[in-house]
Parts: sequence; structure tokens; C-alpha cells
Amino acid sequence: MYYIGIDLGTSAVKLLLMDESGKILNVVSKEYPLFFPNPGWSEQKPEDWYEKSIEGLKELIKDFDKSMIKGISFGGQMHGLVILDEADNVIRPAILWNDGRTQKQVDHLNNEIGKDKLSEYTANIAFAGFTAPKILWIKENEPENFKKIKKIMLPKDYLAYKLSGTFCTDYSDASGMLLLDVKNRKWSKEMCDICDITEDMLPTLYESFEKVGTLKSDLAAELGLSADVVIAAGAGDNAAAAVGTGTVGNNRCNISLGTSGTVFMSSDSFAVDSNNALHSFDHADGHYHLMGCMLSAASCNKWWMDEILKTKDYAGEQAGIDKLGENHVFYLPYLMGERSPWNNPDARATFTGITMDTTREDMTQAVLEGVAFATRDMYEVAKSIGVAPKRTMICGGGAKSPLWRKMIANILNIEVDVPECEEGPGMGGAMLAMVACGAYASVEDAAAAIVKVSKTEKPDPELVAKYEARYQQFKSIYPALKPVFDIIK
Ligand code: XUL
Repeated sequence: MYYIGIDLGTSAVKLLLMDESGKILNVVSKEYPLFFPNPGWSEQKPEDWYEKSIEGLKELIKDFDKSMIKGISFGGQMHGLVILDEADNVIRPAILWNDGRTQKQVDHLNNEIGKDKLSEYTANIAFAGFTAPKILWIKENEPENFKKIKKIMLPKDYLAYKLSGTFCTDYSDASGMLLLDVKNRKWSKEMCDICDITEDMLPTLYESFEKVGTLKSDLAAELGLSADVVIAAGAGDNAAAAVGTGTVGNNRCNISLGTSGTVFMSSDSFAVDSNNALHSFDHADGHYHLMGCMLSAASCNKWWMDEILKTKDYAGEQAGIDKLGENHVFYLPYLMGERSPWNNPDARATFTGITMDTTREDMTQAVLEGVAFATRDMYEVAKSIGVAPKRTMICGGGAKSPLWRKMIANILNIEVDVPECEEGPGMGGAMLAMVACGAYASVEDAAAAIVKVSKTEKPDPELVAKYEARYQQFKSIYPALKPVFDIIK
């Protein structure tokens, strides 16, 4: 039987067709625009997500036996605010996870409601990209739109709604709204009151691997699929990527180098770090996870290559980098402000330490290293609360670079297992569909049967020592520049 995973990303939707043994039969990717209407704002049109997903679905399955397709599920960019009116029309473009416009609302939540109360209600504090501050922003800045709201949902839930007609979400993705009581897996009445919304505006909650419905019959006919095709709730992209890399069950780690960068630690039991620097969220396997998230990871390299060097030859640009641990240039990767560990939408990217002999390779190396150092920042928070594992999986576009994987292994001093397939969220989505269809009894069973490690990048003690010294220098740059970011904002 075949299953489809839809990875609803920030730059594109990636669709993957897989059989239950984990063999990938086809992959299709469709891009859509990202809008930056003001500096630090980030929006997309849900209608674009749907249109491109349907286009992609048709292309994905056109050469395959459609009667073999049994289930569809998702890994979706998290936190985005999608609002629909009474007639189910999208009220305004979605405000995305990397949008920094809500500082005032974040300050209100963290300082006036108070971090302790937020943590008690949701296990988390407010960050600019989370959904609840965006609802407050709409209320304050677009009261006409606020009045029209009948349904509030996350990006992948818009696809599930359009595909199945079920107004649903899953616990992992709902965790990032700051509206969910993560520990008890239910909506927080207190947070609904704080945001001036009612629970009937929020989707029904499901486990990621649960069936929410079947494909709408008109759509099934259009796609040439059976109307019995199961739609499973799916997960936030990080939880889905964790499933796709086998990061399920207790005490495993996955690092994702996608548009964002995350360090994801799965856990059988609920935990909160006392400073709430890591997000405490539900996992797609029915349990929990802790996660640090940086807003610009592989997107830093994409920006540097595409916009500045004007090249698509990423591997060629990295080929000349041969002085690991010895670069004199540092790069701060805060192109969209930063979430973990600084929680500062006004932080900005910088190069520091450039001299007359700095080369193009040094600058490219600094970009890759800056992202790896910032990943280490998140890993340090995990270490400080005693949860940092000694090995990790890796996925996302950046994980395709052997050089970047080597930097991560040596800067974090951790063994990096490279999965056979880096399509984390899409693969996780397909696996969740398999569980919903009964092909596997649990997400853990699916992961054990399907996920394979192709190679391991081991840290080299000499390079670890060099990078340790440079990390200590890197660490001093943001605190020194913070007052400057406050001035230039
Ligand atoms: C996680 C986060 C990002 C997005 C990227 O908290 O904001 O990783 O999910 O799509």
C-alpha cells in the first residue's frame, strides 16, 4: 500500500509517496511566495498552500496505481495564524512562525499576565512567532478582521480541513499556539479568555497518528483517488521530522537545518525547563518533547548564496573551505531576529572580524559556522537542564552538506547520525498516515521498521578543541551587540 506525506514548508510544499516498507516512490516540490510586508513581518497565503498542494498531489501520483493509496498526512510549518470567517473564507494572509511584529503583545503576555501564569496554563512562555500573541495583535491592529473570526487554525490544519472537511489539529502543532495545556492535552480556558476567543473557534484535538476523516468525495474524484483515503491529523514539522528520523520514545535527539534550525529532544514524560528557554511541547508519538528553535538556519546559507553571491552552486562554494576551526570571521545568524535562546525579534545578522585578507570562502564558512554555533547555544540550554543527548539524528536541506554536518558534530561535540532519507517532515507525515491506517501499531513501531542510518559523523578531538575556543569567542558577540540592536531597530 502507498501513503502520502505532505511537508508544508515555508519556501515550498514537498510531497512524498512511500510504501509501508519506507521505500520512497516519488517526491514532488512546489514553491509559493513568501511576503515580507514590513521589516521583520512574514506572511503567506493559505490559498497558495492549497493550490500548490493539489498541483503537487496530482503530479506525485500520476504514474502510480492510485488504488494503492491509503492515507495522507502532514508535517506543517508551526505557529502560523490562519483565520477563517463565517463562510470559511480566509480573512487575511497567514502570519508565520518567523514573523516578529508582536513584541508588544509578547511583552504584555510575559510581563503583565506573567511568565509563571503562562507556564502554568501552557508549559511555555510567549515568543513573537507563537500564535496567541498574533491573535492579540489582530485584535489591537485589525479589529474588523478580529470580529470576523470564526475558525482559528494552523497551516497544515487548513490543508486537512480543505481535504477532509474536518476542523482539526494535533497536539504537537497545537502546543506552539500558547493556547494548549500541553501537559494535559486540552485547550486552556484561561488562555482563550486572555486572547478574547472561545473554544469553539479552535479545532478539535487529535493525536498526530489519528484518523480525522477521509478525502472529500469531489476532491477524490478530481484526484482519481478513492473517497476512503484516510486523512490523519499529522504534526508540526519538527515533530513530523522527528518521526521521520526515528526520534521517538525516550531521550533521543534530532537536529533540523531547514529554513529554521531546531534541536528536538523526545521524552516519555512531561518536563519544563525552569527558564522556559526551550519549548515544552507534545510529541507526535503520543508523548512529549523539548525543543530549541532558531529562526534562520539553512535560510542563512540560501540568502548568502542566492541573494549575495548570486550562485546556485552551493557545493562548489563549500569545496574550497579547508581551514575548519581557524576562521577569523564570525557570523550571527539572526536574519529574522532570534527566538532561542535570546527571544529578541530585534536581533540582526552580522559579520564580525573581517580583515583585508578575508576571502569569499572565509565568509561562506562563517555563515555555516554561525548557524552551527547558534545550534550549540540551544544545545547548551539543554545541557544546563541535564537533557542533552550524546548523539543526534540530522535532517533538513542543510543536512545534505557533509561540511555542515561535520561542523555540527565538532562544534557540539556530538555524534551525528545521518538518515538514509533527509525528507524528515514528509517522511514523518507518511509514517503517521501508515499508523492511522493500521499498517503499524504505533509510531515507535513504524520508526523502528522504517528509519535507517546511512552513516555517522564522529567528532574529532583536535577539531572539537579548536571549535571550543572559537565558540567561547562567538558567545561574547551577541551580548556585546545587543545594545546596538536596540538602537538600530
Ligand atoms: C518551531 C518553528 C519552526 C517552524 C518552521 O517552533 O517555529 O521550526 O515550524 O517551519
